[in-house]
Amino acid sequence: MCGIVGYIGERKAVPILIEGLSALEYRGYDSAGLAMVGDEQLHVHKVKGKVDALRERIKSERLDGTVGIAHTRWATHGGPSEPNAHPHTDHGNAIAVVHNGIIENYAAIKERLKRNGVSFKSETDTEVLAQLIGKYYTDGDLVKAVTKALSDIEGTFGIAVIARDNPDLLIGARRGSPLVVGIGEDEYLLGSDTSAIVAHTDKVIYLKDGHLATLTRNGYSTLTLDNRPASHKVHTLEYGAEALAKGGFDHFMLKEIFEQPETIQNAMRGRLLTEEGTARLDGLNLVMTELRRINRIIFVACGTSWHAALCGEYLMEDLAGIPVEVEYASEFRYRNPIIDSKTLVFVISQSGETADTLAALREAAHKGATVLGICNVVGSSIARETHGGVYLHAGPEIGVASTKAFTSQLTVLSLLTLLMGRMRRISHDDGMAIAKGLDRIPSQVRKILKQNDYIAEIAAIYSRHNNFLYLGRSYNYPVALEGALKLKEISYVHAEGYPAAEMKHGPIALIDTNMPSVVVALKDSVYEKVISNMEEIRARSGKIIAIATEGDKTIQKHADHVVYIPKTLPVLTPLLAVIPLQLLAYHIAAIRKCEIDQPRNLAKSVTVE
Ligand code: AGP
Ligand code: GLU
Repeated sequence: MCGIVGYIGERKAVPILIEGLSALEYRGYDSAGLAMVGDEQLHVHKVKGKVDALRERIKSERLDGTVGIAHTRWATHGGPSEPNAHPHTDHGNAIAVVHNGIIENYAAIKERLKRNGVSFKSETDTEVLAQLIGKYYTDGDLVKAVTKALSDIEGTFGIAVIARDNPDLLIGARRGSPLVVGIGEDEYLLGSDTSAIVAHTDKVIYLKDGHLATLTRNGYSTLTLDNRPASHKVHTLEYGAEALAKGGFDHFMLKEIFEQPETIQNAMRGRLLTEEGTARLDGLNLVMTELRRINRIIFVACGTSWHAALCGEYLMEDLAGIPVEVEYASEFRYRNPIIDSKTLVFVISQSGETADTLAALREAAHKGATVLGICNVVGSSIARETHGGVYLHAGPEIGVASTKAFTSQLTVLSLLTLLMGRMRRISHDDGMAIAKGLDRIPSQVRKILKQNDYIAEIAAIYSRHNNFLYLGRSYNYPVALEGALKLKEISYVHAEGYPAAEMKHGPIALIDTNMPSVVVALKDSVYEKVISNMEEIRARSGKIIAIATEGDKTIQKHADHVVYIPKTLPVLTPLLAVIPLQLLAYHIAAIRKCEIDQPRNLAKSVTVE
C-alpha cells in the first residue's frame, strides 16, 4: 500500500512531509513525490525510487510553503516511473492530488476528458481524478470540486488535495482506503496511517469511510462526500514515535522478532484467567448465550494471518469441538458462502486494511453473519466495520514480513479457543493446563531467542540453496507454511510448505542434495511419523534442519542440524516452533544481502484487490 502525508500549519511543510514519508517507507513502494504551495506556485517534485532520492532531488530547491502533500506509490496502473509518481496535477496545474487505491472507471473518464481536449501526462488511474477536480474547480470552491469529482468515480481512494490559489486549505477524503487526520497546535496533518503523524501529535481522527476532512490553519471539519456535516471522534495514540525506531537492531524485522516475549504477553494481559482456566474477551461484544449458540466458525484472512487462522482451526476443532472453515479472503469474497445465524465469522488482519479481507467482511455481514475482527491496528477499517473483536496490542509492525503479529494472533486464537471451549468440552483442569502453558510462553520464547547466533550459523551453511522444503504435521503444518512464506518473502528463495506426510505424494521428487528440508519434528502424537518422513528425505540425500523438543537426543541421528525449543502443550507449540523459522529466514536474507524490511514487489498492507 502506498503512503500519504499532508501538512498545513505554521511550519515549513516539506521537511515534515519528507519525514512522514520516511516513517511510511516500511510499507513498500516504488516511487515518491511531493507538492507544496508557495509563492503562488504549485511546486511538484517526483522521483522513481526511494525517499532518499526525493530528498536529494529537492536539496537545492527553495521550498518554504507551509501546506503540502506527499506520497509513496505502489503502482497499480502504469509502471513505476517519474511521470507516474504522485502527486498528479490537472491540465492547468491548479491542483495537486495524491491517491491510494484504484479508480476502476478511469479508462472511460480518461477517454471522455481526452475528447474534450485534456492531455494526460501519466498512465495512472489517479491522474483522471486530478483532471476531474481541476475541471470542476471553477469558482474557487475546492471542496465542491473534490466532492463532485469523487461522485464521478468508482473504486477506492484515500486522497489528499491542495490548490495553487488556496494555500489555506488541505483536503483529505476516503472510500475504502485509510486516512487519518492528526490534530496538532495550529497545525494539522493527514496520513495513510498514524506512523506519518505520531512525531507531531498523539491526537488523531480515523476518518470514516465516505468522509472528507477540510483542514485549515485555524481548525478542521469533517463532511460526508455529499457535503453534509459529519461527526468524528478524536483518539489518543497508544504508542509514541520511539515505536517507529529500530532500537539498536539492524532491521525492524529482527526488532519485532525479539519483541515477541512482550507482544505475546500484551495479547494475554487482562484476558487470561489462569485459575478459572479460561479467558475473557470483552471486545467481542457478545454475551455468553450468544457465544454458546454458535455451531460453526469461519476464519477469513490472507497471507500470514491466514496461516494463523489455520492454526485456529486446529485449536478450535480439537479443543472446543466447533467446526471451523478457513478461507482465503480473496476467494471467500467471490464465492457464495453458506452462512446462517449460528455461524460466526472472524476476519483476521494485522493491518486491518487488507482490501480482500475487508471485502470478505462486508460480504459476510451482507449475508447476515456476525463478523468479528482480530486486528492489530487500532481504528483500522476492519476494526471499525466489525461487530466487535480483539486487538492484538502488538504495537506497530513495520517489517513487511509479519512476525510478532503472527504470534499475537496465535495467542488471541488460543484465548478464544479457551473461552469457547470451556463453554463446551474443555474441562476446568484442561483449561487450567492450557492457561498455565500460555502463561509460560513469553519466557520460553525468550529462551529460543538466545539461540539467535546459532541459528545464524545454520543460516550461513544453507544460505546458497535456492529451494527449500518446509514440513510439519498437525498443529505445525501451518507453521511449516509460515516458515516457507517468511523465507520466500525476504530472501527471494523458493520455499514450499507442506504437510510432512503429504510430501511423498509429490514433492519428494524434488529432493536431492541441493534441496534442504526444514522439518518441525516435536515430541507429540505424530513424532514417530515425522521421523519416518525425515528418513525418506535422507534416503534421497536430502539435508535436514529439524526443529525439535528440548531433551530429544534421538533426533540428532535423523537430522543434519537441530534447533531445540522448550517443551509445551502440543496445542501451543506453533507459538514456539515458528520463532526459529523467523530467525532462519531473517539470517538467510541478511547473508544474501536482501532488503529485509522492504522486500521487492511487496507492500505491508495490500489495500488493492
Ligand atoms: C506477511 O509476512 C505478508 N507480508 C502478508 O502475507 C500478510 O500477512 C497479508 O498481506 C495479510 O495482511 P494483514 O494481516 O495486514 O491483513
Ligand atoms: N492506483 C494508483 C497508481 O497506480 C495509486 C496506487 C497506490 O495506492 O500507490 O498510481
